[in-house]
Amino acid sequence: MLRSLGILLSALWLAACSDDSAPATADASQTRDGAQLYRQYCVTCHGSGALGAPRVGKEHRLYWSHEIEEEGFDTIVHEAIAGINSMPPRGGCFDCSDDEIRNTVIYMLQLSGAK
Ligand code: HEC
Repeated sequence: MLRSLGILLSALWLAACSDDSAPATADASQTRDGAQLYRQYCVTCHGSGALGAPRVGKEHRLYWSHEIEEEGFDTIVHEAIAGINSMPPRGGCFDCSDDEIRNTVIYMLQLSGAK
């Protein structure tokens, strides 16, 4: 009896552990939309070019296509997460998950007609 209780407890423990290791935002229903996050956090700089931010929009398609070609999509996403020069880490969205930043970068690339 005690032994099976032990097994049960360790099973619960393992379940709890694997739950803990998942990021709080991993739940798909909680992953915010790239368009929403872009308007909330990124448009301030990327809409106007403030602080030298590369602007978003079809007329800037060549810039973004070139970035993707030269650096690759994953590197661009990584830079958006880690920050680079005047680009703050996660664009200032400190509670954004990596997936949310990735979605937002995809949205920016779509707005620019580059993918
Ligand atoms: C405070 C202004 C500011 C905000 C807010 C901001 N950015 Fe940026 N971002 C910049 C600047 C400046 C650069 C250019 C950095 C450089 O290459 O020198 C940049 C560059 C980038 C790049 C291109 C990286 C590359 O490889 O050249 C991406 C992608 C990006 N930002 C995504 C985002 C996203 C997504 C958000 C919102 C979650 C965001 N930015 C919010 C200023 C900002």
